[in-house]
Amino acid sequence: MSMVSVDVTQNGSVRSIDTLCTAAEIDECLSRLSDRQRPLNIERQRSCDERSLSELSMGLSPHPFSRNADNSFRFMDHPDGVLTPGRRSGFNTPRSPNVFETHPMVAEAWESLRHALVFFRGQPVGTIAALDSSEENLNYDQVFVRDFVPSALAFLMNGEPEIVKNFLLKTLRLQSWEKKIDRFQLGEGVMPASFKVLHDPVRNTETLMADFGESAIGRVAPVDSGFWWIILLRAYTKSTGDSSLAEMPECQKGMRLILSLCLSEGFDTFPTLLCADGCCMIDRRMGVYGYPIEIQALFFLALRCALLLLKQDAEGKEFVERIAKRLHALSYHMRSYFWLDLKQLNDIYRYKTEEYSHTAVNKFNIMPDSLPEWVFDFMPTHGGYFIGNVGPSNMDFRWFCLGNCIAILSSLATPEQSIAIMDLIESRWQELVGEMPLKACYPAIESHEWRIITGCDPKNTSWSYHNGGSWPVLLWLLTAACIKTGRPQSARRAIELAETRLSKDNWPEYYDGKLGRYIGKQARKHQTWSVAGYLVAKMMLEDPSHLGMVALEEDKQMKPILKRSASWTL
Ligand code: GLC
Repeated sequence: MSMVSVDVTQNGSVRSIDTLCTAAEIDECLSRLSDRQRPLNIERQRSCDERSLSELSMGLSPHPFSRNADNSFRFMDHPDGVLTPGRRSGFNTPRSPNVFETHPMVAEAWESLRHALVFFRGQPVGTIAALDSSEENLNYDQVFVRDFVPSALAFLMNGEPEIVKNFLLKTLRLQSWEKKIDRFQLGEGVMPASFKVLHDPVRNTETLMADFGESAIGRVAPVDSGFWWIILLRAYTKSTGDSSLAEMPECQKGMRLILSLCLSEGFDTFPTLLCADGCCMIDRRMGVYGYPIEIQALFFLALRCALLLLKQDAEGKEFVERIAKRLHALSYHMRSYFWLDLKQLNDIYRYKTEEYSHTAVNKFNIMPDSLPEWVFDFMPTHGGYFIGNVGPSNMDFRWFCLGNCIAILSSLATPEQSIAIMDLIESRWQELVGEMPLKACYPAIESHEWRIITGCDPKNTSWSYHNGGSWPVLLWLLTAACIKTGRPQSARRAIELAETRLSKDNWPEYYDGKLGRYIGKQARKHQTWSVAGYLVAKMMLEDPSHLGMVALEEDKQMKPILKRSASWTL
């Protein structure tokens, strides 16, 4: 464990940035980059939703809670701790009462979310992973970077950006800490998986303790943390209209350090990012090593966000150029080789193997015999998805929810592919949503395969936890994807399912079983991201303009290049 003492410094450098960049704009930027004489001047254009959000937060106090003498917190408006949740998001006055009615769970969820707040030297800096006193804490008493994302979005949507800013600055300071596992030093840009506030009652001091993988079960560094950090920085900037945080030299450097890790040149033959098993939400051995979809989609979204946030100064320019090239290559690769629909499945089924040279159709030498039986039934006539992993003689055909939703939000998926993914979710609703949204991964791996792939992991038995378990947190991602593709009714259907049980079951971390009917074997109760995921889903459905915080429109310039040589058709 690294002991880190953190204090916040703020630097209010002011410069405008664009909020949505197309390939044409990137090309323009690049051509300007080569012209050393001309200074760049990219004007920020605030969208309507952005404006309404920042106006909503105008004149409001930074956060409606403060500390009691005993270090517990209370709400300013209600000293007895009783909160009027969602006050600022208009939950008490829904905009379209016929369509959207305030559910009693919303108030309860806000209360839980505020109870989960973690303070450092008097400031809220994050939310604890779970508040379940009945189970052993392990690391659930920490603030996880990935877990905080839905909490952060809920606070941003509610006009409370301060906690998000504090979190971004604290984790940035943690990034600069020296990270070692035994005698090996990790890359400078690695962001922590989680951190914790340590109170010393004798000296009355507080310090932060971070975990970069050196304490994590399996000792794996969180590749997703850095990407989520960049994505959140953009969400903060978009929601508040305040670009000064992203423009701080510290934030610019933090971004560059993260990008250096994933844009470095090596032995790679693919633009996708090579990863160890368990380096993301699925943080245990689950056969997601290689090129997992979750990381590739987050990588793509983070690159697009970074492109919008990076300054075009001497250091930033080089990164903008590298990002633009990588985005082109990455989208081509993903859209061509990770995409699976009926036609593509049929093509693979008929593949010839052992082809050599650039004329090969079966480029990765996939053996048709490796196609799992379930995939033939699972694939609907209309629909498709990005499969779990593609590498040499390896296609992992499993469905992963997070990666596919992020592919829609980031526009890694073309509009046609996005529609196809939603078609698949709707056709396979029973399998993917069942009685509780939403399967993190489908289907479960069983018996011999489970032994080989998970290493006999008793937490990841079939249809449990990461191995086919259902995770309520994914509700916000599904909702966002539904809104982006114009299918709010599917989101509503999933939310209504969650509302039948989530609160009664005390907000479990995950559910087990083919239909997600049972509270997970080792699931924590009062899991914060289950609470926050629900709130974000509700708020987004109520006000779809919130989508802009986490979604980017398609970069139209990428399409023609793809159409020329892509093997799939839609
Ligand atoms: C579990 C999840 C991981 C999450 C952590 C804290 O380990 O797999 O994704 O970040 O719990 O909730």
